[in-house]
Amino acid sequence: AALDGRNTLRVAARAALLVDVRDSAALAEVLAFPLLKSSPLLVLGEGSNLLLTRDVAGAVLSLATRGIRVVDETADHAIVRAEAGESWNDLVHWSLGHGLSGLENLVLIPGTAGAAPIQNIGAYGVELREFVHAVEAWDRKSATFIRFDNEQCGFGYRDSRFKRERERHIVTALELKLPRQPALRLDYAGVREELATLGEGEATPSRVAEAISRLRRRKLPDPAVIGNAGSFFKNPVASAPQADALRAAHPGMPQWPLPNGEVKLSAAWLIEAAGFKGVREGDAGIAAQHALVLVNHGRASGAQLWALAQKVQAGVAQRFGVMLEPEPRVV
Ligand code: EPU
Repeated sequence: AALDGRNTLRVAARAALLVDVRDSAALAEVLAFPLLKSSPLLVLGEGSNLLLTRDVAGAVLSLATRGIRVVDETADHAIVRAEAGESWNDLVHWSLGHGLSGLENLVLIPGTAGAAPIQNIGAYGVELREFVHAVEAWDRKSATFIRFDNEQCGFGYRDSRFKRERERHIVTALELKLPRQPALRLDYAGVREELATLGEGEATPSRVAEAISRLRRRKLPDPAVIGNAGSFFKNPVASAPQADALRAAHPGMPQWPLPNGEVKLSAAWLIEAAGFKGVREGDAGIAAQHALVLVNHGRASGAQLWALAQKVQAGVAQRFGVMLEPEPRVV
């Protein structure tokens, strides 16, 4: 089966077997098939955080389950459950439309609701983990569904236990605890300014979502127009002494101190300063709009894209002594 239309980097690749699951109740039966039982399994949502560098030898499981509903509510909050195959952005708009807040800064992030907790999606000063009530996953080891509460998800920056134990868990549903009373988060650079351009009036979650949508459309290439998987590298973390030395050598370098004393660096800044912003090798490129985004200008193969990404990694390591780690899954 062709995976070409199923990854937003628009890489041509094939899988030995592709199974679309529309009802998670069928998972037990589907996964009992010998071919799915033995082979490593690639679970696919919208393929918006994936670089395929080759054909997939085993099976690909695509979760196309649908449904968003309120499963519990109090005066202050609602617990919203989304099946894994729902679009994340649809879920954001659904929640805003139902008078629930919290997800406004996470608007327009590509991908499915099921993929969101795997990499603990984040943007504009907010991370998904703040709103996760529970994650439901199929456990391939015990062949049962398991519910993980927030703590048990083991969230970190663009990380979770589901990412660390990929072969074991298949996320089937996401439950979010969303407040009715908004607590807007406008401190990330550019958000207040963008909000002001929307005109006078009270800042509401929907208006914040509109402002963030505009910011994203301006700053990040749209995967519907040009193949990409969002940020290709994570923002690296340096020790305090290393960060000090870097800043002494490069006074303009952005740095964000973390609560644990370490310092977060800007991968985009490092890549741009190393001279890779806007470069192109064949159809593989680094976006001219944002240095953190690897783009496919047309027919780049996964291997070509990966070669360019590794070149960027090597260039940044050589110049700054910092190793960038890919954010998407590289197969
Ligand atoms: N910068 C550059 N050159 C560029 C772009 C940015 O030097 O081409 C510098 C600027 O100094 C800027 C800083 O990098 O102040 C930060 O840039 P930006 O606000 O765009 O954020 P980011 O750290 O590059 C992160 C997330 C994005 C998320 C944005 C906004 C990661 C890996 N990326 O990017 O998430 O949308 O913040 O919150 O944490 C994603 O994960 O796929 C993603 C797009």
